[in-house]
Amino acid sequence: MEITFLLNGETRTVALTDPTQSVLDWLRAEGLTGTKEGCNEGDCGACSVIVTDAEGAKPLNACLMMMPHLHGRALRTVEGVAGPKGELHPVQQAMVDHHGSQCGFCTPGFIASMAAGHLNGRHDHDDLLAGNLCRCTGYAPIIRAAEAAQDAPVPAWMHDTLPDLAEVAPIADHVFLPDSADALADWYLAHPDATLIAGATDVGLWVTKQLRELKEVAFLNNCTDLQTIEETDDRYIVGAGVTLAALREAIRDTLPSFAELLRRFASEQVRQAATIGGNIANGSPIGDSPPVLIAMGAELTLRKGDARRTIPLESFFLDYGKQDRAPGEFVESVSFPKSAPDLACYKLSKRFDQDISAVCGALNIPRDGDKIGAPRIAFGGMAGIPKRAAALEGALEGQPFTEEAITAALPALEQDFTPLTDMRASDAYRMEAAKAMLIRYVRNAQGTLSILEVQP
Ligand SMILES: Cc1cc2nc3c(=O)[nH]c(=O)nc-3n(C[C@H](O)[C@H](O)[C@H](O)COP(=O)(O)OP(=O)(O)OC[C@H]3O[C@@H](n4cnc5c(N)ncnc54)[C@H](O)[C@@H]3O)c2cc1C
Ligand code: FES
Ligand code: FES
Repeated sequence: MEITFLLNGETRTVALTDPTQSVLDWLRAEGLTGTKEGCNEGDCGACSVIVTDAEGAKPLNACLMMMPHLHGRALRTVEGVAGPKGELHPVQQAMVDHHGSQCGFCTPGFIASMAAGHLNGRHDHDDLLAGNLCRCTGYAPIIRAAEAAQDAPVPAWMHDTLPDLAEVAPIADHVFLPDSADALADWYLAHPDATLIAGATDVGLWVTKQLRELKEVAFLNNCTDLQTIEETDDRYIVGAGVTLAALREAIRDTLPSFAELLRRFASEQVRQAATIGGNIANGSPIGDSPPVLIAMGAELTLRKGDARRTIPLESFFLDYGKQDRAPGEFVESVSFPKSAPDLACYKLSKRFDQDISAVCGALNIPRDGDKIGAPRIAFGGMAGIPKRAAALEGALEGQPFTEEAITAALPALEQDFTPLTDMRASDAYRMEAAKAMLIRYVRNAQGTLSILEVQP
């Protein structure tokens, strides 16, 4: 199969033999070795590049992206950040001026992330650069450089257009790039054993770390009809292909606690690639969005051929590694309320940024006068699946909304969960931390809690 994309402003058509080859490996084999390999798993940002698609320019990790993801897009590597005559980009000059580099290994990745942020007029440098690790300079000079460059004009060469494509959806017998959900539905029905690849922030690691060979694959990132967020009077209907970054933007004002949780979902580079459909379909017990969606009463729409069915999201997760999804069936959308004033999301992880949850709690506890109404409480990291705390909900409903009453109900959580001990946390710590989230919730509501939150 052949793909066409822009590479640092030049159109390239590349014949692929391995559709799961990472963009990082391809770039380095091409001699574009400015893009570095640090972790090869999305954690360090040394491989950051800028990819422009119909939504705009994004920093992405080249180690997680597979070559077919580039079809129809524009890729700019660190080699393309300086001007055609070698003029430094404002973020490069600022890194020099502010001593933002020592050994230099992380620097190309920082430059790519900073240039993407600069192009988009973003000033939230702490968040934007949380996915770029530096082991020697220290972050203060780098952040100072980003601030110093933020208001400089964007150099003309940074505005990428998209390539003209002779063929929108190139098809090899084992690789499919559908451009609509309809096309995907037809193909997947005929190829039910194929692997669907959305952002590849999970699937990429199956290839690079588990060395799995994926025989038949479909890349979903050209299905723009899966990337829409529709609104009814009271609900969002979010297409499976919507990225966590786009979702965070859409709900920033309406569901602030969920949006703040998404700020702590991986890093900017991962959020710009990872989709809500992938976060649900992977069935991970420690995925961050499922507990929140379950606590809000989300519904999932699955599609097989032309047939659709809508189920409560909580019933999708059957057991560890087992979801209610038939062969040839895919996640089309998820819908949830546009407002959840009683929702609070708490992510507990060893690091604030770029870390997987040890426990993720989503607490939606409405009040009926002074009493607790019908609560919906869900946790990730407490069982083999994201799951509601049914016994605790039962013990809380109708009780006074006081710390004493909530504390008295907490032992019920032990009927709901028997958490595991792993590298992130012990079983006892998980149970204690989950209970503490209920206390935090009531103290937050009553204004008696003093926690120094990390502010955006
Ligand atoms: C560095 C790093 C940090 C991370 N941090 C977090 C974090 O903080 N919180 C968190 O929850 N996760 C985290 N993840 C995991 C990952 O980013 C998420 O699970 C992400 O949402 C996966 O989405 P994707 O589009 O990349 O899915 P993919 O990797 O493309 O696919 C994941 C799975 O879903 C299937 N799939 C994808 N789309 C569909 C569909 N529409 N229908 C049916 N099946 C589908 C695929 O076949 C595959 O089985 C992290 C990953 C990395 C690499
Ligand atoms: S090499 Fe570390 S994020 Fe890609
Ligand atoms: S300058 Fe050495 S890792 Fe950042």
